[in-house]
Amino acid sequence: MKLDRRHTFTVTVGEGHVVTACAGERLMEVMDRANAPVPFSCRGGACGTCAVRVTAGMENLSSRTDNEEIIVPDIARGDDVRLACQVIVYGPVTLVVHDERLESVT
Ligand code: FES
Repeated sequence: MKLDRRHTFTVTVGEGHVVTACAGERLMEVMDRANAPVPFSCRGGACGTCAVRVTAGMENLSSRTDNEEIIVPDIARGDDVRLACQVIVYGPVTLVVHDERLESVT
């Protein structure tokens, strides 16, 4: 089933900061609107600053972009790391924002 922006769900960040999102929104836009910004530099998939680790709901995210395929392996190991400026959300997701906690999650 293709969801559109009429469908809302939650994005949970870190210790339980819950943000309401609409299907089809870019993750970085969701975080900005909720005043829970992800660190960023380029917003274009080139710097890796906006990396987050997805701990649940990866199936509810868009596929990795070409930029993610290039950048992510240089900044972290694991298929669970995504770039918030590249990801489109289609359902509930739980994540950790890129900071010292990102490296401590295995
Ligand atoms: S802000 Fe630079 S890759 Fe997302």
